[in-house]
Amino acid sequence: MKELSAAAITRELKTRRIGREVLYYPSLSSTMDTARETALKGLQEGTVVIAGEQTGGRGRLKRTWLAPEGNIALSIILHPEIKTLPYLIMIASLAVAQSIESVSGVKAEIKWPNDVLIGGRKAGGILIENEVRGNKVAFSIVGIGINIDLRAADYAEIADTATSLKKESRKDDLRIKIVRSLLEEFERLYLLLPDGKPIFEAWRERLVTLGKKVKAQSGNQIIEGIAEAVDDGGALMIRGENGRLTRVVAGDVTLREK
Ligand code: BTN
Repeated sequence: MKELSAAAITRELKTRRIGREVLYYPSLSSTMDTARETALKGLQEGTVVIAGEQTGGRGRLKRTWLAPEGNIALSIILHPEIKTLPYLIMIASLAVAQSIESVSGVKAEIKWPNDVLIGGRKAGGILIENEVRGNKVAFSIVGIGINIDLRAADYAEIADTATSLKKESRKDDLRIKIVRSLLEEFERLYLLLPDGKPIFEAWRERLVTLGKKVKAQSGNQIIEGIAEAVDDGGALMIRGENGRLTRVVAGDVTLREK
């Protein structure tokens, strides 16, 4: 396995803003916390905090996120305009899916809103934390986790639902290449803002969720039906058996059919 380091990432990185500053730590509790401390010091937009291993990683909906050594756990510090916030999850999930495909050749899909799947199993996840003051975003932290060499079978809680890129592609040494490709793809999409239309369309195109029978959990509410559409803010529209359309802004979706 190739060693991660800031120099190894930036040496061949073709970006202007994202990842020009990389802060590498061999071990962190969560890159989200370190990125937040870094952002509060006012470092430049695009700074990346990356950990060799993450020991207290968190996921969406207060879940834990496993990222032992050999996987990707990073956070990108951004200073976006408030009206562009809905596009960040689309940019991040597209960048993860596209970097997986271009580096490993394995097909990746996005499950609404931002889980990246390979063969129906989760290989990547995104967590975004925003610091909004008044009507301005002081900073956003986009956290990205990708299972490169995670032996999902060793962890009962994810054994049936997760996979890793090493398992799916049978290739080694993907980590640094995916990190670089991810940052380059992220920048390409991020620089399209404030025009979110091409980002939204590319994300919708890649969603595996649309047209499927789904069960969505949003807070205490369970919504079952056909995932009919997404609106341009990213919300999922589910048509129930009674014909009613429900708009789901945040939550978790289970696909009821492949
Ligand atoms: C999810 O699918 O629930 C989101 C997972 C996000 C995990 C990443 S790993 C890097 C960053 N640091 C964290 O503690 N979480 C995010």
